Amino acid sequence: MEKVEVKISPSKESKYPIFIGENILNDAYSYINKYTSANKFLIVTNETVFPLYGDKLKSDKSEILILPDGEIYKNMEILGRIIDKALSMKLERKDALIALGGGVIGDITGFAASIYQRGIDFIQIPTTLLAQVDSSVGGKVAVNHVMGKNMIGSFYQPKLVLSDLSLLKTLPERQFKTGLSEVLKYAFIEKSCLAEYDYNFYAFLNDNVDEILNKNTELLKKLVKISCELKSSVVNKDEKEKGLRAILNFGHTYAHAIEKLTKYEKYTHGEAVSMGMKLIFNLSYSLNVISKEYYDSALNLLKKYGLMTEYDDKFDKEEFYNAMSLDKKVSGGQINFVLPIRNGEVEIRNNIDKKYVTQGI
Ligand code: NAD
Ligand code: GLY
Repeated sequence: MEKVEVKISPSKESKYPIFIGENILNDAYSYINKYTSANKFLIVTNETVFPLYGDKLKSDKSEILILPDGEIYKNMEILGRIIDKALSMKLERKDALIALGGGVIGDITGFAASIYQRGIDFIQIPTTLLAQVDSSVGGKVAVNHVMGKNMIGSFYQPKLVLSDLSLLKTLPERQFKTGLSEVLKYAFIEKSCLAEYDYNFYAFLNDNVDEILNKNTELLKKLVKISCELKSSVVNKDEKEKGLRAILNFGHTYAHAIEKLTKYEKYTHGEAVSMGMKLIFNLSYSLNVISKEYYDSALNLLKKYGLMTEYDDKFDKEEFYNAMSLDKKVSGGQINFVLPIRNGEVEIRNNIDKKYVTQGI
């Protein structure tokens, strides 16, 4: 069992653990009861995850709400269903919500917890690799609006995160790769995360491709732990994304435009992020910021993991640029780019000529 502690600035007194191991779900309440004093729990999950793992969380103190599966259900109407259920159960301030699912369930449940009776405890039980390495950590919770993704939300940290690697066994291959895309992201930004240790995550990922693709549990445990430590180091310094936290959006400015222009249906978030990371490496290389050696090595790492870096869509450059300009990462009308500058290091720049930005589209 591994444990990562997420400490939130400025008080650092606000902290919560992430437990990472196998078969944690069999014993979930022994962890949960240590970190909340809830009398009742509402477990929020979806129609895919419930038949696989729902039974493991059943208890006489809990009820389950099963939502439809999909990003399109991360919306205000479905959020209302969670609130309705919490009210009908008469959940009180000291009670808690439990999110059992991928990033969609984690984001909507966390947001519901942040507004129900002005905020009640919530617990993240991430069931996808993406959720274990990224979305369950750091407190970004939200639902989508028809005019934009994650447009309604808050920063609201969970009381604890239980990352059970055994749950990844049933994850479809496409979703596993989606998570790996966010994992590689950490390798490209690791030095800028200002973590306590130098993990040399890039070398770890480069040296263990086959074992990781074969889901070797010990390596997955290490991979999830390092990813959480890197993210936690960033969140500790900048919870509300005033500056540093933006580096976690490496590749995402391009990715969000790709997702928006393909109506969030054609590609998973991680697939768009892989494409976005390739485009940002292209941009950096064409601006003579990174060496040919690093450029080739980074693209090769994406390729070795079989991540989707190419698309067959013919995007209109103007439309693409406009889609990037509408992203939340824009400030004062300037698009912020998290540009790779050296192995594992990135820099935020916002004065890049449109001609360079769209040349590879
Ligand atoms: P997801 O939640 O849609 O899950 C992907 C699919 O896998 C779904 O069909 C789900 O039902 C299924 N699934 C989940 N666990 C399974 C399991 N163990 N076995 C079999 N099937 C399983 O997608 P995701 O990639 O986990 O999350 C994407 C969401 O996360 C997006 O809404 C994105 O905006 C959000 N996100 C949030 C943050 C954050 O910091 N809050 C960061 C990154 C992404
Ligand atoms: N996934 C980006 C963030 O948590 O800030």
